Amino acid sequence: MSKIDPTAPATRQNGAPAESNRNSLTVGPNGPITLNDVHLIETLAAFNRERVPERNPHAKGSGAFGEWEITEDVSKYTHAKGFQLGAKGRVLLRFSTVAGEQGSPDTWRDVRGFSLRFYTEDGNLDIVGNNTPVFFLRDPIKFPNFIRSQKRLPASGLRDNTMQFDFWTLNPESAHQVTYVMGPRGLPRSWREMNGYSSHTYQWINADGERFWVKYHFQSEQGVHNMTNEEAERLAGQDAEYHRRDLFDNIAEGNFPSWTINVQVMPYEDAKTYRINPFDLTKVWPHADYPLIPVGKFTLNENPKNFFAEIEQAAFSPGNFVPGTGISPDKMLVARTFSYPDAQRARIGTNYNQLPVNQPVHPVNSYTFDGNMRFDHSGDAPVYAPNSFGRPYADEVGQVENSWESDGELVRSTYELREGDDDFSQAGDLVRNVFTDAERDEFVNTVAGALATVQEPVLSNAFQYWKNVDQATGERIEAKVREGLAEAGEIPGGDPANA
Ligand code: HEM
Repeated sequence: MSKIDPTAPATRQNGAPAESNRNSLTVGPNGPITLNDVHLIETLAAFNRERVPERNPHAKGSGAFGEWEITEDVSKYTHAKGFQLGAKGRVLLRFSTVAGEQGSPDTWRDVRGFSLRFYTEDGNLDIVGNNTPVFFLRDPIKFPNFIRSQKRLPASGLRDNTMQFDFWTLNPESAHQVTYVMGPRGLPRSWREMNGYSSHTYQWINADGERFWVKYHFQSEQGVHNMTNEEAERLAGQDAEYHRRDLFDNIAEGNFPSWTINVQVMPYEDAKTYRINPFDLTKVWPHADYPLIPVGKFTLNENPKNFFAEIEQAAFSPGNFVPGTGISPDKMLVARTFSYPDAQRARIGTNYNQLPVNQPVHPVNSYTFDGNMRFDHSGDAPVYAPNSFGRPYADEVGQVENSWESDGELVRSTYELREGDDDFSQAGDLVRNVFTDAERDEFVNTVAGALATVQEPVLSNAFQYWKNVDQATGERIEAKVREGLAEAGEIPGGDPANA
């Protein structure tokens, strides 16, 4: 809730009446302005500090509030209060693109972020996912390099397809996600018409302490609809805020979008022998092995009152889990539990959790103190634990609820490969068995278009990458690119003068 009454007379920041929001204090009508115009100085100084750094990835986005409701009994999998039959509460969902900056067009081809917060009575539960069920990488140390390769060249500040494909082809585990993004779902028609996925495997724990591995699927009740390259390009020029506007306007008009909440559940022991490493988020779990289990739904029915306060300063984290839920040994997910709060301490400030949009419904009583912009405090209660003066402190010992076993020496290594763990077969399956003929044709055009400016040796690596995904499709992509280069008088890898 805003604490400013916008109908009250204007004041300075000390509450005294503001002198003028229209005329600075000057020596005579034409004279110089004076340093003791405190109102002017305060206005300019606050203006200079209005912006906070944008999110590094996922800078461009928007979101809305709504309500969730659990419509199925999933208590045999989790005792989380927020997921018990009939549980309801408030949600916040922020959509975003990944690589573009704050002002970039909503309709550039990219993955879309899908950050969902449940304000549960046990604390905030955030599922910070995407509109794709997989991701480009499986080791977190690659993530900053990946994001830089998708952003801008150091000298020109331009985005660059050679750099993008260089990273992707040198990291072939990206193939599944790149295929997905270059396919029809890389251009959603609106945020309302796309699904959300946790992508990662998380954990649920029931009241008996039994553990399960889960993947969340949020399915759009508006259906999944996409746009063509031509539409997306036109809109990028005409209305850079196309998706943001669509969401805001639909909610304002009472056309509330909704999603069903579903999970794939894997019994804890299955993970040890399943043919695909269930913690490798470049892979999906085929639904034939682990079907979708319905849980509930959520509806977005409330626009933000203030974009900056409620969307820009929203701080989601995969580390925001609650009893009955947890993370998994997915190396990326473990790293993300550190990375997000760290980014938010830098981006928003040490006490970002005290901002209304980040405050949990459950009251906070943590042993963290002071720092810039501290607002809530615990008076003169003990600032240390344990203490003899009655302030409660936590004291869990032994096996923790949301846990897993691990052993072995410290090593630097990729995951041990299982039978179904190659980098290309699920991507190939997508191209051959999920895309329609028309979608496959469009996919060849999209990839060939993206490769048109790619330099050697990356171009040849890219041809091989796509042949590894699917030989026939790779050959079509190569033929199309070579045809385009020949028409333009360029031979890939050769001297254009000899063409
Ligand atoms: C190790 C890998 C990753 C790292 C280190 C990482 C790091 C980050 C950071 C630092 C932010 C900005 C947070 C902020 O300033 O508030 C961010 C945003 C985001 N990331 Fe990641 N990320 C990783 C992988 C992923 C994956 C796998 C997904 C999806 C499954 C994902 C989805 C998102 C989304 C949706 C946002 C926007 C959050 C919002 O709406 O505020 N990221 N990421």
